[in-house]
Formats: sequence, C-alpha cells, structure tokens
Amino acid sequence: MKVLVVAQGKGGVGKTASAAHIAFYAREAGLRVLVIDLDTGDLTRTLAEYQIDGVASSLFTQAGVSCLAAKQEDGSGCLALVPADNLLANLVFLPLEQAQQQFEQSLGRLAAEYDLCVIDTAPGLGIAKAAALHVADAVISPVEMEAYSIEGIKQTMITVLNARQKNPKLSFLGILPSRVDTRSPRQMANLNQVREAHSALMAPLVIGLRSSVAEALAHGMPVWKLRKTSARAAGAEMRALGSYVLSKVGVAQ
Ligand SMILES: Nc1ncnc2c1ncn2[C@@H]1O[C@H](COP(=O)(O)OP(=O)(O)O)[C@@H](O)[C@H]1O
Ligand SMILES: [Mg+2]
Repeated sequence: MKVLVVAQGKGGVGKTASAAHIAFYAREAGLRVLVIDLDTGDLTRTLAEYQIDGVASSLFTQAGVSCLAAKQEDGSGCLALVPADNLLANLVFLPLEQAQQQFEQSLGRLAAEYDLCVIDTAPGLGIAKAAALHVADAVISPVEMEAYSIEGIKQTMITVLNARQKNPKLSFLGILPSRVDTRSPRQMANLNQVREAHSALMAPLVIGLRSSVAEALAHGMPVWKLRKTSARAAGAEMRALGSYVLSKVGVAQ
C-alpha cells in the first residue's frame, strides 16, 4: 500500500477537494483505496457512505482500526473511509514518536487490504499531520494563488524537509495551484510569479475555481459525474490530478 498525504498549512485551499478526487479517481482505476480523514470531518461527510468501523484518532492509540477486508467487486476498485472524530484534538497530548509508531503499526495492519491510502490533513502543524508525513510515501500541497498562501509555500517546504529527515522515502509531488480563478489577472500574475520562483517544485497541473467542484463534493461524488456542461472542465482537471498522482506514487492504473 502506498501512502499519499495532502497537506498545506492553510485551510480552505482545496486539500479536501483534492484528496476526495484522488481517491475517487484511484477507485475508478480499479484500486482498493483507504481514505483517512485527519481533519474536522469535511471529507468524512463527502465520503460518508464508505465509512468503515473505527475512527481516525484510534489509529494513533492502542485500539487501531479493525482490518476489514476491502470489498472489491469483480476486479473493480473500492473505497473505505476511516472517519475523523473529536478525539483527534487530543493527539496534542501524545509524544510525536509514540503517535508516529502507533500510526505506522495501524497502517501496517491495513496495508495488505489496500493499494493506496489517501490522507487528508488539517491546516497548521498538528501531531497527526507530522506523524502521517513520517510514514508516507508522497505528499502533495494544494496552494491558492493568494498572497498568504504563497507565503505559506516556504513553510510547507520546511515541513516536508523536516519530515524527510525521519522519512527519506517521502517524495514531494509538488505545489498544486488550486481554486485558481483564471479570469482574475491578479491570480494569474501570482501563478506566473510562483512558477518562476519555484519552477522545480510545481506540479504540472492547475485546478481552476469552479463551483461544480463544491457542488459535487456536497453530493458525495466526483465532479466528472455531475451531469452539467459546466462541470466538464473541472472533471478534466481533477482527472488529470488523479492520473498524475497515481503515476508519481507508482500504483498501477
Ligand atoms: N476547485 C475548486 N473550485 C471551487 N470551489 C472549490 C474548489 N476546490 C474546493 N472548493 C471549495 O472551497 C472550499 C475549500 O476547499 P477545501 O477542499 O475544503 O479546502 P481545505 O481542505 O484546504 O480546507 C470548500 O467549500 C470546497 O468545496
Ligand atoms: Mg479540508
């Protein structure tokens, strides 16, 4: 099982939208996908129908999540969600080393059942996010083309480099320009500036600001399944994201 973390210090930048679409895409590609919500439950609401027994905080403590066999129908992919819960907030009281070890063991118990694990994280510098980065194979970082978020790129890179000291296999899949308003000259200028300043760090993708994304997530479905002409461009962008991530992480599609 390969482990992908979606992380960025700021909230509201498209982490959850990205995590959900990567997971949907991977399932459609025939993979067995485990999704873990380490934030306050947005992804849990979107993927409510895929919930399995156990809660995310227990992955960091003794109890863990029972190793359910992934339900796979005739070779097609499947999705299983470990939902967020209120006890995630108590992880601040755990030593990082302990949280990390326990999380690694918990994932180890689930590893044979799944091909890909997608982890959505909270903004800020929490224990759960740090532990996830210490065991992950890859991380991708959605960023809005606004000043505060752009300044956050440095912080994101520090977080990734710190995690790499403990976890050298962690691969950075890039800064993902997200919720980009392509009709805003200011955002497009920011995008160009970021590309010039950080060309080696950029994922070769742009996720545009499109209301169909929010609408699809509210319906618990990928945007490419919305029957609307206006959802087509968003669907193509989200599929490109899924395809990019699967090829970089190295899981078959
Ligand atoms: N590409 C997009 N276009 C329009 N709205 C989006 C897009 N991506 C996310 N959203 C919406 O913007 C808000 C923040 O996105 P979200 O993925 O929840 O960010 P984060 O997880 O980083 O806090 C949500 O209401 C979400 O539905
Ligand atoms: Mg979120």
